[in-house]
Amino acid sequence: MTAENDRRPALRQAADAARYAPSIHNTQPWKWTVHPDRLELHAVTDRQLTVQDPDGHMLLLSCGAALHHARLALAAAGWQTRVDRPAGDPLAVLHPTEHGEPEPAAVERFEQLKARHTDRRTVGDTPLDPKVLDDLVAATEQEGTRLHVITRDQVIDLAVIVERAERTETSDERLQQETAEWVGGERTDGTGIPAANLPAGLPPTTVAERDFGQAGTLPPGEGHDTAATYAVLYGTGDERDEWLRAGEALDALWLAATAHGAGLLPLSSPIEVGYTRLELRRIIGDLGAPYLVVRLGNLDEADGARPARTPRLPVDQVITEVAS
Ligand SMILES: Cc1cc2nc3c(=O)[nH]c(=O)nc-3n(C[C@H](O)[C@H](O)[C@H](O)COP(=O)(O)O)c2cc1C
Repeated sequence: MTAENDRRPALRQAADAARYAPSIHNTQPWKWTVHPDRLELHAVTDRQLTVQDPDGHMLLLSCGAALHHARLALAAAGWQTRVDRPAGDPLAVLHPTEHGEPEPAAVERFEQLKARHTDRRTVGDTPLDPKVLDDLVAATEQEGTRLHVITRDQVIDLAVIVERAERTETSDERLQQETAEWVGGERTDGTGIPAANLPAGLPPTTVAERDFGQAGTLPPGEGHDTAATYAVLYGTGDERDEWLRAGEALDALWLAATAHGAGLLPLSSPIEVGYTRLELRRIIGDLGAPYLVVRLGNLDEADGARPARTPRLPVDQVITEVAS
């Protein structure tokens, strides 16, 4: 059998690679169906944060990140892929079309997939090189979502917005209960954020990190965020497909940052809270709909080892193979 008609191994590998994608509170709200000729991505609303994310926006960003991981795995295996985005379920269908030599850039990016992780320690003192930042903006925009880099004089405005969002979320008891179900402890079920990935105390940054309501065991680092770059992913609207594409762009941005030795920390509370999302819109000059705030910076590995990997659901809980 030639590579042309033997797509199943590549599809299986792509679904498996997608397991390592980032997701809100590590909920992994996706499921893949492997067909002989195509791969379907389904949203799993049982793993949606219904209090924190009632509209499913964070779920869609997470599924978009998984979709980008799968696309990249197929590209690194030499497949050109057409992605259909039907209106209902599934969210997306990947059809490998032609096989050939993989692009070296796809292979290189694919290698970043296992190195990418969320690092909640403070970033180092050296700001990102402007050329690196240009590359990160280009990597995001190639996926059809824009990246607004926050200027120095906007950082205080951003800090105030994030603080308001954090205050709104931490004072919501139902939301705190939901967070506690997903965060802390050892997370032996393969989902959620273990204590080992949460800082032992919130680091003294200008723009606050998410307060998960409990201290972890990760040393937060000595630094501050004075050398961090904050940016907002944004696009034209609030349709399902736009959030999914924004997730793909987030993943492309994150892998590009990883390739440059930089870290990315998503800050989603100002997006989840309605009025702070409106305030964010003002910060980006009313250019469009904000999807996510991210902190970018050089990781100061001298501060200690990178955090342990977050767990993942076993293969049989996220991948199903069917005969036709
Ligand atoms: C849409 C989205 C929103 C996220 N929001 C936050 C956040 O507000 N604060 C945070 O510390 N991590 C946030 N994360 C990071 C996740 O917690 C992380 O991806 C997940 O725990 C898996 O860990 P890993 O990225 O190290 O693989 C977010 C991730 C995604 C995809």
